[in-house]
Amino acid sequence: MKVKVLSADPAEVKTPALVVLLYEEDKSGLKNRPELKSFSKFINPRLKAKDFEAKPGACLTLYPAKANAERLILVGMGPKAKCGPIQLKAAAALGSSTAKAQQAGSAALALPPLTVLDEQSCAEIISLGASLGQYSFDELKSPADLKPALQELALIRQPGKGLAAVRKAAQDGATLADSVAWARDMGNRPANLFYPEIMAAEAQNMAQASGITCQIITPAQAQKKGMGAFVGVGQGSQRPGRIIILNYQGGPAGGKPVVLVGKAITFDSGGISLKNREGMGDMKGDMSGGGAVLATLQAAAALKLKLNLIGIVAAAENMPDGGAYRPGDVLKAMNGKSIEIISTDAEGRLVLADALTLAQSYNPKAVVDLATLTGACVVALGSSCAAIMGNSPGLISELREASGRSGEMIWELPLVDEYNELIKSPVADIKNSGGRWGGSIIGGLFLQNFVEDKTAWAHLDIAGPAFMDKSSPGLPEGASGFGVQLLIKWLRS
Ligand code: BES
Ligand code: MN
Ligand code: ZN
Repeated sequence: MKVKVLSADPAEVKTPALVVLLYEEDKSGLKNRPELKSFSKFINPRLKAKDFEAKPGACLTLYPAKANAERLILVGMGPKAKCGPIQLKAAAALGSSTAKAQQAGSAALALPPLTVLDEQSCAEIISLGASLGQYSFDELKSPADLKPALQELALIRQPGKGLAAVRKAAQDGATLADSVAWARDMGNRPANLFYPEIMAAEAQNMAQASGITCQIITPAQAQKKGMGAFVGVGQGSQRPGRIIILNYQGGPAGGKPVVLVGKAITFDSGGISLKNREGMGDMKGDMSGGGAVLATLQAAAALKLKLNLIGIVAAAENMPDGGAYRPGDVLKAMNGKSIEIISTDAEGRLVLADALTLAQSYNPKAVVDLATLTGACVVALGSSCAAIMGNSPGLISELREASGRSGEMIWELPLVDEYNELIKSPVADIKNSGGRWGGSIIGGLFLQNFVEDKTAWAHLDIAGPAFMDKSSPGLPEGASGFGVQLLIKWLRS
């Protein structure tokens, strides 16, 4: 879907569908919405009859007689004072997905009067939300059963200064949405069709199209570099692993890069410590951290961010097999530490251990890793919120601030020093599981063993928000692409 911006009176725009975003305050009539004056004769009776109360998630389609818009899609945003990025994005997504479901072909959206955000931020988040509202994972379905996405969405603003800046913001929102959609596609693809070699090939294609350099490391090369933890995880699979390194140079030559690290287990069966059958299929999404890293690099290049950015994705498949690693095995990580395997299902931290060591060889300004690391994180924070842990309060507060503006929620968990006792091993330097309690924190503490104190590092456990078990506006069931929006907000500031 193409997004454009027009300065016009919404009533004058000829369109199959006009999306009208209403605040809860508007439910007593449209007196505060002069831009919608021409539509009040259609909308006010519906408000009066309480057919529509502008609550978040509410949506009502009207078919006005003798208007330039064939339909009006009313979408609720809730109270004006609470209408931030999350609400605007969801409302735009709902309006846009409704127009798609109605097979409108194209649509317009009247930008609402501003509240907590300035016009550019508002246009960007609405463009992003509306674009995400078009997303569905269709590539494995017969084309005959599909509803086509809208061709075009026109954002309608009041005539006045600043059109160029608003156009740029709307374009940025659509660009970001394309990268999020790519991350979702990767997460939704089944593991028989999407495995480390395919992920590496896609990364190479993206890099070539984006002016990013890409280097791929095979298991044999990884072994030579001493990446025994990464190699161990993948050794039970027919599908060889890959380390994908992307390098985007948008900043000064020689400037310290930010390094993003992603866990990409293309399927996590648990390995010899086999998972039970319920929901195992969702583990095709266990590469979501890596997917988010690739998509963030793509977006950074498309948005021409002025910084140096490296992405390292550790891609492997975790399978049980005669050649698989076992509980009790001891693996040697790239930084020299030996790791006793308690559970082959705690594999994410193993591939990340070596990827984090590699990350630090780039003399980074900061390292941020993303991983669907622990079920415990889903228990603690649910499916809308990721956990953040790390060794740098400054970096964590920057990421939390970006989280607020992006609408992708994160919450800090403490790296409780005492719990390091739980991952001491009698036979090796460290073990890969410390039992049930505090599982997400233990995951973070394990990773910290592979990060030098001088490196500013944050770990995002995205196990909850990476994969949705039910859909909500702009966020269909399945992979969410979580992290891309948050990281781009952070990298831009
Ligand atoms: N990929 C899983 C974590 C996960 C669980 C992500 C549910 C998304 C939804 C990870 O590799 C895993 O299996 N973690 C174990 C760790 C344990 C063995 C220490 C877990 O959480 O049970
Ligand atoms: Mn696992
Ligand atoms: Zn996993």
